[in-house]
Amino acid sequence: MAYHITKAVIPAAGLGTRFLPATKAMPKEMLPVVDKPAIQYVVEEAVSAGLNDVLMVTGRNKYALENHFDRVYELEATLENKGDHAKLEKVRASTNIADIHYFRQGDPRGLGHAVLQARMHVGHEPFAVLLGDDLIDERDPLLQKMIQEQQKRNASIVALMEVDPDQIHLYGAASIETTDDDDVVKVLGLVEKPSKESAPSNLAIIGRYVLKPEIFPILQHTAPGKGGEVQLTDALQEMAGATWTGGVYGVVFRGKRYDTGDKVDYLKAIVELASGRDDLGPELKPWLKQFAAGLD
Ligand code: UTP
Repeated sequence: MAYHITKAVIPAAGLGTRFLPATKAMPKEMLPVVDKPAIQYVVEEAVSAGLNDVLMVTGRNKYALENHFDRVYELEATLENKGDHAKLEKVRASTNIADIHYFRQGDPRGLGHAVLQARMHVGHEPFAVLLGDDLIDERDPLLQKMIQEQQKRNASIVALMEVDPDQIHLYGAASIETTDDDDVVKVLGLVEKPSKESAPSNLAIIGRYVLKPEIFPILQHTAPGKGGEVQLTDALQEMAGATWTGGVYGVVFRGKRYDTGDKVDYLKAIVELASGRDDLGPELKPWLKQFAAGLD
């Protein structure tokens, strides 16, 4: 029986060391991308794919996350008294967005360990995992397509993106077989952060997954891998090779995506999103052109 997927798990307990000192007292998922924290885009994406039940796996400094999705009475009262309904709307937009739950990871022992914390909440249904620092263009129906494929194939689904071979050491890489759908591949194996020479392809796993609950018993015995962390990729590698799990397929993503945990990608995301906005683009774009013309 195909379960209707309603649950999203958002791991947001990483240390965010690439963004220090900004992330010393604040999770990197709270860094603003134009005027919203990165995590709000991710929750909005989950909700627009029909996933209204969100579990955030949080770590130290989790209060900023919880506060962002909670009511702020004083601020709301002040804006209401001033009659500033536009700003009030913005404040409230993140409050009623979804049914959000929190689970504290304790020690940040890796992405696989973070996902394992969701076991009790998820139960026996397939569920989505969205990395809180990965932004996908909101016009792209990636998650919807992944959910459809999960239901159709009764397998676990990862999102794959072609990257420059020089960059593959930063990602998990997949060895694949094509299917009758140009956008879907069967995943034969996965390896976390391979060297350029040993990578099975330049198809990299990006931060969206739709997983079967069979991932949990596998994660339970997955030993720490690269970087001494429990790697989700290692558990998926085991899933890909075991028929009882239904196997793993990849949806190939060809749209725009930003890793807001990486400084250059973070800056690109802000410039691109702001340029495309009606309220900011008209003022920003002429300045950008002038600025770019003055660069070497
Ligand atoms: P990253 O490796 O990008 O996160 O993990 P990080 O460790 O915070 O980043 P740097 O390299 O130190 O800057 C991918 C995702 O997994 C989450 C992170 O929050 C991020 O969304 N994560 C990672 C956890 O929730 N728990 C962990 O133990 C590790």
